[in-house]
Amino acid sequence: MKVLHACSELFPLLKTGGLADVAAALPTALQAEGCDVRRLLPAFPSVLAGVEASGADLPLPEPAHALAFGQGHGQARILPGHLMGTGEPIYLLDAPDRFDRPGDPYLGPDGKEWTDNAERFALLSWAAAWLALGGDPSWRPDVLHAHDWHTGLAPLYLQLAQTGARPPAVFTVHNLAYQGLFPLETAARLGLPAAVMQMHGVEFHGQLSFMKAGLQYADAITTVSPRYAEEITTPEQGCGLDGLLRARRQQLHGILNGVDPAVWNPATDGHIEQRYDARKLGAKARNRLALQRQCGLEPREDALVFGVVSRLSEQKGLHLLPEVLDELFERGGQLVIQGTGDPVLVDMLQHAASRHTGRMSLRLAYDEPMAHRIIAGADVLLMPSRYEPCGLTQLYALRYGTLPLVHAVGGLADTVTDCSLENLDDGSATGFRFGDFSAADLSRAVRRAFALQRRPADWRRVQRNAMRQCFDWQQAARAYLKLYDDLTGREPPPGH
Ligand code: ADP
Ligand code: GLC
Repeated sequence: MKVLHACSELFPLLKTGGLADVAAALPTALQAEGCDVRRLLPAFPSVLAGVEASGADLPLPEPAHALAFGQGHGQARILPGHLMGTGEPIYLLDAPDRFDRPGDPYLGPDGKEWTDNAERFALLSWAAAWLALGGDPSWRPDVLHAHDWHTGLAPLYLQLAQTGARPPAVFTVHNLAYQGLFPLETAARLGLPAAVMQMHGVEFHGQLSFMKAGLQYADAITTVSPRYAEEITTPEQGCGLDGLLRARRQQLHGILNGVDPAVWNPATDGHIEQRYDARKLGAKARNRLALQRQCGLEPREDALVFGVVSRLSEQKGLHLLPEVLDELFERGGQLVIQGTGDPVLVDMLQHAASRHTGRMSLRLAYDEPMAHRIIAGADVLLMPSRYEPCGLTQLYALRYGTLPLVHAVGGLADTVTDCSLENLDDGSATGFRFGDFSAADLSRAVRRAFALQRRPADWRRVQRNAMRQCFDWQQAARAYLKLYDDLTGREPPPGH
């Protein structure tokens, strides 16, 4: 089974969020299951720097009437290569005037979206469709797997191609809220016919929606947790696309993300002060002390340290925090927040941090090693997200025996079990959950964390249970493989 994964980020070369982690781990896990996988990414400078070229360039033709693709570059190419380090094969879409821009893949240095994002990601989608249709005669995929709105037009370009041999397309929604909306007039420049520019096509409230294209024209839609797959069929979480998702319910699947143990494992993690596992949990305290020192927190052993590693966006629910902070600190808590994003949230957090020196540390940075130190050193990982398609940091926290405190939505609800008395009693508890998205309910969960801290034997038991949870990529890869088999009408290989 040959599968082409098209996406816009890849850990460790270029990452703004969990999509990069998935783009790194899922294809590798599929490979381990016997699948022949290649990735396609734009040749952003940091991605190009991590790839060794191999084989001849493939010039990319333009789709009929695609004016925008011809402007400027006119000569996009596909560069076949291998990822340095792992040697995994990859295709890069080389179109320097679209992608030779350092930094964030979507935003310019002014923090605003690049004005040609429609052209940039239509080109990526077109390149994916072209490869899926046999653009590289030496490797023709059986399935195209496109991720998020950046590749949403790929299933549509596939449908529009006048060819009998179209492979099926899978479209994975990592976050329905980011939709890739552009003025309707853009469509003609991107080679999209008038026939698809209507409500039953890719028109969304008078705009062109890349996300809707993916949802409308893919043969199967997946998202990154079973609960989120349900949630996005409702008006509350459907971002205006719930009607379409309800209509396509039969083709919609929720497959939970996993943890890459090569990157996130407290027993082998090179970024943390002291490695540990479930049998040597005492060593976790050394990581906490190191974290307190590094972040300028009072090095108190009895403090309950809460950690946040997150994009600072409305999605993550951090605006609930100010209302619970006084209580958290009065009860002896400490808080480390690392994140970048929304200036309004940054202001709010800076204000709070200035009021609570020694107890609250705010790091406005994107820092991978430090993310590991926070997840290893904290006692509780806070993730009060308003919505969360899957969430990876809570999965990393579970592995590190750092109990997640989460709003019970999406993937957070699928992966964290609350420390209620009955769950403590039957040994299923792994963290703290709150149901209403309110400061009052968040505060109750925070109080449960302090209550458990006063019962150290129970805390230890919950930590061990958390570390035992198995959210691995093998399980996810098998579910995707089954989907590919169903779509191509193939028999799964023996043992699957
Ligand atoms: P999302 O993709 O919505 O941002 P996830 O929990 O799925 O949320 O994934 C976030 C990923 O980005 C995790 O790997 C997390 O460790 C990482 N991350 C987020 N913010 C930072 C930061 N400031 N520094 C380092 N890593 C971060
Ligand atoms: C998105 C979601 C996050 C998910 C990640 C990877 O960024 O916000 O919940 O874990 O994609 O699928």
